[in-house]
Amino acid sequence: MIRNYKASDLQTLRQITAICFEKVSIDKNIEDRFGRIGDMNWAERKMSHIDDDAAANPDGVFVAEVGGEIAGYITTRLNRSNQIGGIPNLAVLPQFQRRGIGRQLIEKALAYLQAEGMLYARIETLEQNPVGTSFYPAMGFTEIARQIHYIQPLSKLNSR
Ligand SMILES: CC(C)(COP(=O)(O)OP(=O)(O)OC[C@H]1O[C@@H](n2cnc3c(N)ncnc32)[C@H](O)[C@@H]1OP(=O)(O)O)[C@@H](O)C(=O)NCCC(=O)NCCS
Repeated sequence: MIRNYKASDLQTLRQITAICFEKVSIDKNIEDRFGRIGDMNWAERKMSHIDDDAAANPDGVFVAEVGGEIAGYITTRLNRSNQIGGIPNLAVLPQFQRRGIGRQLIEKALAYLQAEGMLYARIETLEQNPVGTSFYPAMGFTEIARQIHYIQPLSKLNSR
């Protein structure tokens, strides 16, 4: 069952995020390369993105339940000026994956974005994520660009 998000779901969505994004997040890549930064580990940084999504557009967050348990979620953003909506985050717990829940969440998000007047929907993924090559094209998305993410520690700035 796919249902609307409620504020009391947030902690569970944060936990699902920490479990699901370990192999497929820029935040984890950064920690693997440079270690923990400041007071936040990679999971806390990634979970904060879900806080942002829920705060920005709670009506566009949808939750998948199986037997009363939250199995996954999807978040969306609306841009009423350019009419291009976005799907910033999507996750399904490993034990519920490959049962079509991700597909249902995307279908729900696309229907919501269309109903809200968006003309196009955008989604991003990392090259290291196996779902990018098959799942998103199968859901109707067309690849339009590849991006490279860089980072450097600022502590070495003065010793150059
Ligand atoms: C992406 C994700 C939400 C898909 O959820 P799901 O419920 O397993 O999705 P579905 O069962 O609807 O599967 C849809 C398709 O995705 C693809 N897919 C799913 N998991 C995959 C994997 N591990 N490797 C390759 N393809 C995969 C398959 O094409 C699959 O269709 P199929 O089962 O008919 O072959 C889930 O794998 C996940 O949470 N991954 C970690 C977080 C993540 O990558 N989020 C998206 C960031 S861009």
